[in-house]
Amino acid sequence: MRLPLLLSTVVVLLTRIGTRPSSFVHAAAPTQGNYDGLYRPQIHFSPPQNFMNDPNGLFRDGNGTYHLYYQYNPTGLVAGNQHWGHATSSDLYHWVNQPIAISPPNNDSQVFSGSAVVDVNNTSGFFPDQNDGVVAIYTLNTPTAQVQEIAYSVDGGFTFTRYPGNPVIDSNSTQFRDPKVICSP
Ligand SMILES: *[C@@H]1O[C@H](CO)[C@@H](O)[C@H](O)[C@H]1NC(C)=O
Ligand SMILES: *[C@@H]1O[C@H](CO)[C@@H](O)[C@H](O)[C@H]1NC(C)=O
Ligand SMILES: *[C@@H]1O[C@H](CO)[C@@H](O)[C@H](O)[C@H]1NC(C)=O
Ligand SMILES: *[C@@H]1O[C@H](CO)[C@@H](O)[C@H](O)[C@H]1NC(C)=O
Ligand SMILES: *[C@@H]1O[C@H](CO)[C@@H](O)[C@H](O)[C@H]1NC(C)=O
Repeated sequence: MRLPLLLSTVVVLLTRIGTRPSSFVHAAAPTQGNYDGLYRPQIHFSPPQNFMNDPNGLFRDGNGTYHLYYQYNPTGLVAGNQHWGHATSSDLYHWVNQPIAISPPNNDSQVFSGSAVVDVNNTSGFFPDQNDGVVAIYTLNTPTAQVQEIAYSVDGGFTFTRYPGNPVIDSNSTQFRDPKVICSP
């Protein structure tokens, strides 16, 4: 795979992840939320239900739609069962909740923070006939290590397929996370 993406991994503050068992979620539809509550933020994005932390993989697509992904525990009020939640907006003010974009492959791992690029020139080779492919790189947290993985989207960032050659950056460390990707033309 040709991948002229510059990768660097920095450690950022991350809410301590507990040891409670997790349960991954594959969602076909967005989670519903009540946005009329007294304490609901009305300008800043908040998830429909449950826990969020870091923003991840922000980009604006060729149609002008902004995509926000975020660290999301769809099953609890605390960090621990991390997925990439997803919302879109035309104005960064009104948000539409989308189905979870990236879920862990099993109950023993979690999809931690990362970033994304729109691969307009197919430099990754994942996108034979399109200019709106999206590559996400993120940390897969497992009981023994934090490794860096890639997933790609052929539908403009709504659903992702995990790259079969993962991990793209292996590691024996349990504290090695949150890759930042930029596209180098
Ligand atoms: C993951 O955990 C949930 C809830 O404990 C359980 O129902 C499900 O079978 C588990 N899935 C796998 C693949 O182990
Ligand atoms: C623009 O929107 C159309 C229709 O939803 C979609 O098929 C296409 O992938 C989008 N283009 C980009 C560049 O995201
Ligand atoms: C995208 O990359 C793949 C793998 O290199 C290649 O097979 C395909 O022809 C490329 N498509 C375009 C439009 O460049
Ligand atoms: C992890 O540790 C094993 C055993 O020491 C070693 O063979 C392997 O190369 C290490 N992997 C990485 C990515 O450092
Ligand atoms: C895509 O390729 C064109 C033509 O080589 C180049 O001008 C442009 O900068 C490239 N875009 C990106 C995002 O790499």
